[in-house]
Amino acid sequence: MKTLEKIPEIIQGGMGIGVSNWRLAKAVSKQGQMGVVSGVAIDSVFARRLQLGDTDGSLRRALSNFPCPDMVQRILDAYFIPEGKSAEKPFKLIPMPNLQMRRSCIELMIVANFAEVFLAKEGHNGLVGINYLEKIQLPTLPSLLGSMLANVDCILMGAGIPLAIPGALDKLSCWDTVELNIHVEDNTGHQKFLNRFDPKEFSPGTLPKLTRPKFFAIISSDIAAKSLTRKATGTVDGFIVEDHTAGGHNAPPRKTRKLQSPLQYGQKDIPNIGKIRDLGRPFWLAGGCASPKKLKEATDSGADGIQVGTAFAFCKESGILPDIKQEVLRQCINGKLKVFTDFQASPTGYPFKLVSLKNTITSMDKCRERKRICDLGYLRQLYCRSESEVGYRCPAEPVEKYLRKGGERDETVGKQCLCNGLMATIGLGQTRQDGSELPVVTTGEDFSFIPHIIKDSVTDYSAKDVIDYIKS
Ligand SMILES: Cc1cc2nc3c(=O)[nH]c(=O)nc-3n(C[C@H](O)[C@H](O)[C@H](O)COP(=O)(O)O)c2cc1C
Repeated sequence: MKTLEKIPEIIQGGMGIGVSNWRLAKAVSKQGQMGVVSGVAIDSVFARRLQLGDTDGSLRRALSNFPCPDMVQRILDAYFIPEGKSAEKPFKLIPMPNLQMRRSCIELMIVANFAEVFLAKEGHNGLVGINYLEKIQLPTLPSLLGSMLANVDCILMGAGIPLAIPGALDKLSCWDTVELNIHVEDNTGHQKFLNRFDPKEFSPGTLPKLTRPKFFAIISSDIAAKSLTRKATGTVDGFIVEDHTAGGHNAPPRKTRKLQSPLQYGQKDIPNIGKIRDLGRPFWLAGGCASPKKLKEATDSGADGIQVGTAFAFCKESGILPDIKQEVLRQCINGKLKVFTDFQASPTGYPFKLVSLKNTITSMDKCRERKRICDLGYLRQLYCRSESEVGYRCPAEPVEKYLRKGGERDETVGKQCLCNGLMATIGLGQTRQDGSELPVVTTGEDFSFIPHIIKDSVTDYSAKDVIDYIKS
């Protein structure tokens, strides 16, 4: 059993979709730090990797270690293409997550999470975590079971206040049934919507022993940390305190939580580290922390270390397509990189960091208009269609459809399909009749690590280079 004392100074942040894949997390863990795989949309990532033929056999190696071979066979039958799908053919879609998920969808979630963690942990004793988003609720319970079957060391969760997850982990580790309250919009009758999950229904006969992983909540204010400390259903073992310069989704600016223009971050958005330290839990600082100086400042302030995303996102082990990595690094070296907070793009309603790059959705107006289509559906919101019926809608889906489902036109403005865009960024974009999906690239604001890691304009660097620099 790993103890918290052993959790290292550097946590490599979870980066979805598929940016922090098992190769990156493994490379970091082998250096004695904590690698974190992304569990966001991992079922689709996994199904698409199988359709590309699993060329090095790693996925099938992970599957051969899954305790329930029947489940594995059903997944291989559904998605594995030994010779790999041809480039012009679209990927076979997996069903979108919903409240009454078919058994086959749940099995895929369990197995995909298992495989990602298994591969990240294979062949060494380092620590591996997995990252989920509180906003994406429906896949959470089967995903947790899958990663626990692979003996994950830590669950990290952001984009919301995950009060229910610590208790869910306690229950799952005893193979007990868990119920998760699901957020449903337009719920004027204040009905309760529950996602009920009995892990025993998916067990391989005899129940393998499950260890309760540590749980770290990713927060950006002492208020959220305090509320988790007091109200969570079980132990929150630590906090990642992430500021608004970090990559991916950011917390909305304080005071101006509603859409107003111009939205911007101010003094109030800087987390109060003293108050978080006073809660007495381990914590790590995130957002522009990839330097020896920042690591020292963090530990001097009482933190246990730092969480780093961007510096790892562009190293050679990460899932981002090599061409995109090279373009971002080139622009950075030439002083031309433009990272900005888009307050509208994400269907979640949270601000999202984007990079202006050619041939990505971000430069869409100059390229071509993406025809709206929602076929992955991770960011769909649930809403009450009637007293007893739940519907699903995403503000990035076709506008008319969204309006027919009771959504407001305002909410659709500037929305981007992050599901399809982020898939394209890791080379798993869907092929459509009018061309392939374009990537969406998110990074943090801080690239000051670049001149310390990239020497003589060789833009290839490894996760080890990042760690060596930070620890130097
Ligand atoms: C490409 C990218 C994707 C990210 N995706 C996620 C995510 O899915 N979930 C999450 O909690 N944080 C996500 N993050 C945030 C990182 O985990 C990390 O906290 C953050 O990047 C730290 O700031 P830095 O980028 O300045 O190092 C992402 C960051 C990047 C750069």
